[in-house]
Amino acid sequence: MRSRIMPYAPLAVSVTMGLLIIVQMLLMVQFGDAVISYYTPTILAFDNLMEGSQHLKHTATNGQYARGQDNIAAKHFLFALDKLATVEAPTWPKAKRDNLRDLLDAANKVRSAVAQSDYAQVDAALDSMMPLLEMHTMEHRSELVSAKHNIRNLTVGIGFVCLSLLGMGYAATLRERRLSKLEASEAEIRSVLAALITALDAREAYTKGHSVRVAEYSVGIANKLGLSQAAQQQLHMAALLHDIGKIGVPDSVLLKPGRLSDEEFAVMATHPDTGARILASVKTLAGILPGIRHHHERHDGKGYPDGLAGDRIPLSARIIALADAYDAMTTDRPYRQGLPPALAKLELQDKRDRQWSGEVVDAFLAAREEREV
Ligand SMILES: [Fe+2]
Repeated sequence: MRSRIMPYAPLAVSVTMGLLIIVQMLLMVQFGDAVISYYTPTILAFDNLMEGSQHLKHTATNGQYARGQDNIAAKHFLFALDKLATVEAPTWPKAKRDNLRDLLDAANKVRSAVAQSDYAQVDAALDSMMPLLEMHTMEHRSELVSAKHNIRNLTVGIGFVCLSLLGMGYAATLRERRLSKLEASEAEIRSVLAALITALDAREAYTKGHSVRVAEYSVGIANKLGLSQAAQQQLHMAALLHDIGKIGVPDSVLLKPGRLSDEEFAVMATHPDTGARILASVKTLAGILPGIRHHHERHDGKGYPDGLAGDRIPLSARIIALADAYDAMTTDRPYRQGLPPALAKLELQDKRDRQWSGEVVDAFLAAREEREV
């Protein structure tokens, strides 16, 4: 039986995939926005200040500078510094804001030294500031790289999940197709078997409906014994087909109204084995063969074809044997009237644990009692 959750699984999978893709797209948009509005201008500002600082350092140490604010290197540095001061950092953590403040303090010392045209001081202030600037630039670059890696890993992860889901969906579709093919072929087999049973019942007109009744009694017993739904379905099929081997019994024996001779009985006794062999080629019916082959065994071992006794007789066969006997006893034949159900039940009890399994007799009587109440 299929799970109640299964029909909703494809919907749940689609919703999960959709949500994952939406989250991924939002993160990518957010990342693109951060690259444009934050990382790129910030890193450019730091790079620009670094270039200005190197330029100024070069002129300061090589004596190539002109005077004060007119110095091109000094202008380059001051312009980059003013730009950096416009970098917005409200969402930065406190430690990072403190670091930026330290950097700007160090840069302002350079600014003061430039204003005073004290290039020895400019050189010294740049020496204190440039390592801070380098650290900041590196930090922002590594943040960008790490954000890029996160996005890449997430994309690969989501891609992998999507591929897995597609694979699972494909496997589920194949499974569904296989199952529906199997169901179609089983339905086909069942309709062929139903035709066979009808043909069989038509041959023995007085036993019309016998197979259907035996199947019904058998399922009642199985239910009372607590057998699973699958076992009950299998038993139902076995009971419907239990006498299929009578196809191989000639009319002169099958339809003989009186008692059978020993030779005739020997021919009749081949039908359980014939039935099992006829159905042996149908793979899906493998489970019902023991019930068919052994439905004429007796609890005391005096049955046929193998003379099995007690629990060595498959349970399905023990159940069908009793259901078969009860129906035979209670239906009319050309040469005798059927027994009333009460007398047939007495007969079952009388031969309990001799002809029929005691637990099966009890289960049958309990099942009949429930139906008749
Ligand atoms: Fe039979």
